Amino acid sequence: MNILAIETSCDETALALLSVTERGDDVEFNVLGDALYSQAKLHSEYGGVYPTLAKREHQKNLVPLTVRALTQANLFHPSEKALETLSQDFENIREEEFKHEVEKFLAHTTKPDIDVIAVTHGPGLEPALWTGVSFAEAMGQAWGIPVIGINHMEGHIVSALVSSVDTKTYTLPKPQFPVLALLISGGHTELVAMNDWFSYSLVGKTKDDAVGEAFDKTARLLGLSYPGGPQIDIYAARAEEKKEENTITLPRPLIHEDSCNFSFSGLKTAVLYLVNKIGTVSETDKEHIANEFQHAVSDVLVSKTQRALEQTGAKTLVIGGGVSANTFIRNAIATMVTEHFPETQFSTPPPKLTGDNAIMIGIAAGMRQVHNIPHTNEALCAQGSLTLT
Ligand code: KG4
Ligand code: ZN
Repeated sequence: MNILAIETSCDETALALLSVTERGDDVEFNVLGDALYSQAKLHSEYGGVYPTLAKREHQKNLVPLTVRALTQANLFHPSEKALETLSQDFENIREEEFKHEVEKFLAHTTKPDIDVIAVTHGPGLEPALWTGVSFAEAMGQAWGIPVIGINHMEGHIVSALVSSVDTKTYTLPKPQFPVLALLISGGHTELVAMNDWFSYSLVGKTKDDAVGEAFDKTARLLGLSYPGGPQIDIYAARAEEKKEENTITLPRPLIHEDSCNFSFSGLKTAVLYLVNKIGTVSETDKEHIANEFQHAVSDVLVSKTQRALEQTGAKTLVIGGGVSANTFIRNAIATMVTEHFPETQFSTPPPKLTGDNAIMIGIAAGMRQVHNIPHTNEALCAQGSLTLT
C-alpha cells in the first residue's frame, strides 16, 4: 500500500510518500519520497508563528513539494492527457491563486500509484490546516483516491514507537500495551494512555501554556530567537558545562499536586519578573536562567510522568512532540524509568521525526489502514484531548 501524507498544521509544509508492508507482527514503512520546508525563519521576525503568513507559505509550497516527493518516489508522470479528465471544480479551495496552481498541477499530472492520501486535520492553526486539507481533497477528487484525516498528536505518538532501520526505513513492532505517551509540543502538553491501537484515555494535560510555548516565551524574554526551545537547550547546556554556581530558582508548578496535570504559565511569569529585576541580562544570566528553567520543566515532566506510570501501569512509555528533541529532558525521563520502572520499555522518536513532519502522519495512517480503524478516535476528542478541528 502506498500512502501520500501531508502535514501543514503549523509552520512546516511537509509531504511524504510511504509504502507500507506487514511483516508478521511488525509493520514496515519505506520512505519513497520526502519533502519538507520549514517556515521557522520567516516567522522568527514575529517571535512566533503568524497564521496568515503560514497559510500563504503553505499555499506557495504545497504543489512544488508534492512534485518533489512524487519525483523522488518515481511516481511523478506529467501528461497533457490528464487535462482531458479534469473537469471538477475544487470549490473547497477558496483562494483563486492557489486554486489555479492546484488545477494546473492536476491538469498535467497522471494519477500516481497511491492508495490513500493522509492529511493532518487537527489540531493546529485553522488556516494552515485548511490549506493542507483542501489540497488533499482536491487530489483525492481528481484522482479518485480516498482521503483520510489524521490527528497531528497521533502522528507524534506513533513516530515515537518506530525504530529506524535506516534513514528511509522504519519498522513498528507491536508495542506492549498499555502505552503511555507524554506529548510535549508547541501547542500541547498531555499524558495520554493508549490501551490498544488507537484507543485512548486522557491521563493529564496542561491547564494553561504548553511546554513548548513556555520554552518559546521564555526564550523571547531572554532575547533569544524563535523557535526558542533549541535556543534554551543550547544556553542551558553551556551552563551545565561550566558548572558555575547558579543562584537562580524558579518554581516547579503543580509538582506536589495529586494529579497528572501541568501548568507552565507561572513559570514564564517568574522568568518575566526575574528579567525585570535583573535589568540588563548578560549572556551568563541567560545561561543560568535557561538552565534553571530547563531543570524546572524537566522536574515537573519527570514527576508527572512517574505519577502517570504508577496510575496506568503502562508497559511502554513514549515521548513525542518537538520538545522531545531536548536531550536533557529525554535523559531525565530515561533515568526515572530505569530507576523506578525497569520493566517499562521507553521509546523516543528517531531524531528526524521529533519535529513536525509528514512521515509521522503517513505512519499513523498506515497503522490505521492495517488495523482497519480509519478515523480518529471520537471518544478521545470528546475528552478534549487530541482535539479534532
Ligand atoms: O511538535 P512541534 O514541532 O510543533 C508543534 O506541534 O507544536 O513542536 C515545536 C516546539 C516549539 O515550541 C519548539 O521550541 C520546541 O518544540 N522545541 C524544543 C526543542 N526543539 C524544539 N524545546 C526544547 N528543547 C528543544 N531542543
Ligand atoms: Zn507537532
